[in-house]
Amino acid sequence: MISTDFQFMKLSIIILAAGLGKRMHSEQPKVLHLLADKPLIRHVVDTALILKPDSLYVVYGYKGELVRQAITEPNSQFPIPNSQTNINWIEQAQQLGTGHAVAQVMPNIADDNIILVLCGDVPLINSTILQTLYSQADANHLGMLTVELDNPHGYGRVVRNVAGEVECIVEEKDADVNQKQIKEVNVGVYTIPAVHLRRWLALLNNDNAQGEYYLTDIIALAVQDNLSIYSILTHNIYEVMGVNDRTQLASLERYYQTQQVNRLMLAGVTVMDPTRLDIRGTVQTGRDVSIDVNVILEGEITLGDRVKIGPHTVIRHAKIANEVEILSHCVIENVVIGAGCRIGPFARLRPDTVLAEQVHVGNFVELKKSTVANGSKINHLSYVGDSKVGSGVNIGAGTITCNYDGANKHKTIIEDRAFIGSNTQLVAPVKVGAGATIGAGSTITINAPPDALTYTRSPQKTIADWQRPCKKK
Ligand code: UD1
Ligand code: CA
Repeated sequence: MISTDFQFMKLSIIILAAGLGKRMHSEQPKVLHLLADKPLIRHVVDTALILKPDSLYVVYGYKGELVRQAITEPNSQFPIPNSQTNINWIEQAQQLGTGHAVAQVMPNIADDNIILVLCGDVPLINSTILQTLYSQADANHLGMLTVELDNPHGYGRVVRNVAGEVECIVEEKDADVNQKQIKEVNVGVYTIPAVHLRRWLALLNNDNAQGEYYLTDIIALAVQDNLSIYSILTHNIYEVMGVNDRTQLASLERYYQTQQVNRLMLAGVTVMDPTRLDIRGTVQTGRDVSIDVNVILEGEITLGDRVKIGPHTVIRHAKIANEVEILSHCVIENVVIGAGCRIGPFARLRPDTVLAEQVHVGNFVELKKSTVANGSKINHLSYVGDSKVGSGVNIGAGTITCNYDGANKHKTIIEDRAFIGSNTQLVAPVKVGAGATIGAGSTITINAPPDALTYTRSPQKTIADWQRPCKKK
C-alpha cells in the first residue's frame, strides 16, 4: 500500500500548451494568439501565479521555442513582470495526448505534491475557483471542474452513476448516443495527488478514437482505486471555455471586454457605449472620467479626475493628469500629459513625449520624443520631434522640426515665450532663444537670438505685367 499521509502537500501547477491548434488555421502556436493584447498562455500563467505554486511547469511542443521566448525574454512584448517566477519548460516533442503531456513532467515532481492541471487554451480560468478546488485537495482526493453546456459538442462528457458519483469521462469522439446527451462536461482542470497520478499515467493506453493518451482516463482509474472524486460545477461558461477556433477567441474577447468595461463604470467612469470601448491592459481612473465611443486603451494607463476622451481615439501606455481633454481621432503612445492639456482632434503623440500643464496640441500635429512646458500651443499641422519646448511658446501652423539629417537625429530647443511663425522649418540642431519671434515661412539653420525677430524670407516682389502661361494649341 502506498502511503498517502503527507502532512504538508506542495502545489505544482502544470499548464498544457503543446497542442498545435489545428482549427485556428494559423502559423502561430494557438496559445500565442492574443486576448486583450496578451497571449492566451500569459493569461493562464498570470492566473496560476496568483495561487503561489511551489513549482510551475509549462508543457510546450508545436513551435514551442516561440511560446517560450514570447513570455520569458525580457525584451519580448509580453515578459512575465518579475523574474522570480521560475517557469519550468517541459518539451513534449510529439503531441500524443493530454495524458502523455502530463507524463513528461512527472519525473520532476515528488510524490508529496498536489498537481493542478490547467490548459493553455482556457485563458479566462479564474483564480477564485481554482483556489476553491485546491482548498479541498489532499492525498486521497481527485478534484475536477465541470460545467453544464447547452451545446456540449466537442467536450469530454462527465459520466455519473445512479448515485450521482463521477464514474469516468468520455471524449466526444468516443461517446455513444446516450453519452452524447450528457450536458455536464469536463473543463480540463483537475487537482490530483502526484503519488497516484504517477501510477495512473503508467496505466494509460491510446486505444481510443483519437489514438491518444487521454489524461481524462485517470478518472476511471481513480474510481477503480476507490479514491474519492469531488467535482465543482462552475456556472460561468466563459471562464472555462477553451479556445479552439477564432470564433471562440472572439467571443471570449467580447466577454472579457464587457467585464473590463463594467469594472470601469462601477468605479465611476462614464462610458458612452460599453460595447465600443476596448481595454487591452490596465486602466486606473480618477473621478468623473468620461469616455466616448470607439476608444481603445492599451497597456498601462492612468487617467486623472475629469479626464474626457473623445471618440475614435487609441491610447497606449499613458499617464494623463486631471482635466485633460482629448478630442476625437487621436493616437497617443507612451506619453505623459499634464493637467488641463487639450489634445486633438486628429493629434498624434508618439513615444517619450511629455507635456506639462495647459498645453494645447491641435489637429494634424505630430509630437515625438519632445517635452513641452506649461501653456505652450502647437495648434495646427506641425511636426515637433526630438525637441525641448519652453513655456508660453506658440508654434504656428505648418512648423516642422527637421530633426533627421538622413543619418542622425538632432535636437531642437525652443525657449520660453518664443513665437514661431507659420510654415517654418527649424533645421536641427538649432535653438530659438527666449522671447524670439521667427517670421513665417523661414528656414532656420542657425540659432535665433532671444527677444529678436529672425526670418529668412526674400523680400516680396510684384511683377505688374505678368502673363500667365497659356495652353499650347
Ligand atoms: C480536453 C479534454 C476534454 C475536455 C476539454 C476541455 C482530454 C483527452 N480531453 O479536450 O475532456 O472537455 O479538454 O477544454 O484531455 N495538449 C498538449 N499535448 C497533447 C495534447 C494536448 O499539451 O499531446 C494541450 C493542448 O495544447 C491544450 C490542452 O492540452 O492546451 C487540451 O488539449 P486539446 O487537444 O485542446 O483537448 P480537447 O480536445 O479540447
Ligand atoms: Ca481544447
